[in-house]
Formats: sequence, C-alpha cells, structure tokens
Amino acid sequence: MVTVELHINARKVKIDVDPDMPLLWAIRDFVGLTGTKYGCGIGQCGACTVHLDGNATRSCSVPVSAVGNQKITTIEGLSEKGDHPLQLAWQQEDVPQCGYCQAGQIMNAAALLRGNARPTDMEITTAMSGNICRCGTYQRIHKAIKKASTMRN
Ligand code: FES
Ligand code: FES
Repeated sequence: MVTVELHINARKVKIDVDPDMPLLWAIRDFVGLTGTKYGCGIGQCGACTVHLDGNATRSCSVPVSAVGNQKITTIEGLSEKGDHPLQLAWQQEDVPQCGYCQAGQIMNAAALLRGNARPTDMEITTAMSGNICRCGTYQRIHKAIKKASTMRN
C-alpha cells in the first residue's frame, strides 16, 4: 500500500492503495465518482475515459501510481453546472440510449474539441472511433459533437 494524492476535479484527495491499481478503481471506489464507467478493462471500449491534464485517457489502463501531479477531470468535473457545450448538445440531440458509454464518449469528445474547435466529419469519426456504444448511438453522437463545435467561440 502507498498513499497517493490525486488532483481530481479541482480538489485534492489522499488515498491508501495498491500502486498498481488502475486509476479507474481509485476514481470509482475510493473517491466515489461513479460517472466514469468500467467497460472492458483493457483499453478497448472508452467507457472509462477521463482527462489527464486535458488529454483523453483510458483510466482502466493507467496505474494510480503513474498519475503523479497530473490533473484528473472526470465527467463530474467537466463543467460546474453541466453546461459544457457538449453536454448541452447531448441534451438537444437526445443522444444517450442506455447511457452507459456516454460519459466516456463526452470526455473523449471534449478532449477533441479542446485541441480542435472545429473538427471535420472525418476528424470526429477518427477521434471517436475507439469509443464503443453497444446501443449504436453513433450518428447522434457525431451530430452532437458537430453542434457543440458551433457553440464554442
Ligand atoms: S474500460 Fe477502459 S477502455 Fe474499456
Ligand atoms: S448508449 Fe448504451 S452503450 Fe452507448
């Protein structure tokens, strides 16, 4: 066991954990933020996507001890009032079906828009290709990202 300090959603949290434990476990079971989901556990589905210093990262595939001082942002910390352009567009386009994959989808899309405010259709498709939705909401996800990109200044 080691004591790890996480900088998560603008607060600091100290937890005593196995250093090899995936960050996803720390976020959900130790910090209690359950918006980030466990899907495959092997970096293949994107359900566990969070930001580390703004970069989309599969939290199931990062040991908690490797995070260091990087700032973790989860879906709960993406915006103060749930009014990030993507969250607004997601509501307007009624994107989710079961909803399980959607936090990961939004976090991946948010990292895309952060680095590319006006992505082309191809850039959206490429950036989102690693996020699996078992309900098949891909067309609405794409439409919502397009809409969100027009909301940004
Ligand atoms: S749970 Fe992390 S990529 Fe699937
Ligand atoms: S909305 Fe059900 S898995 Fe994507």
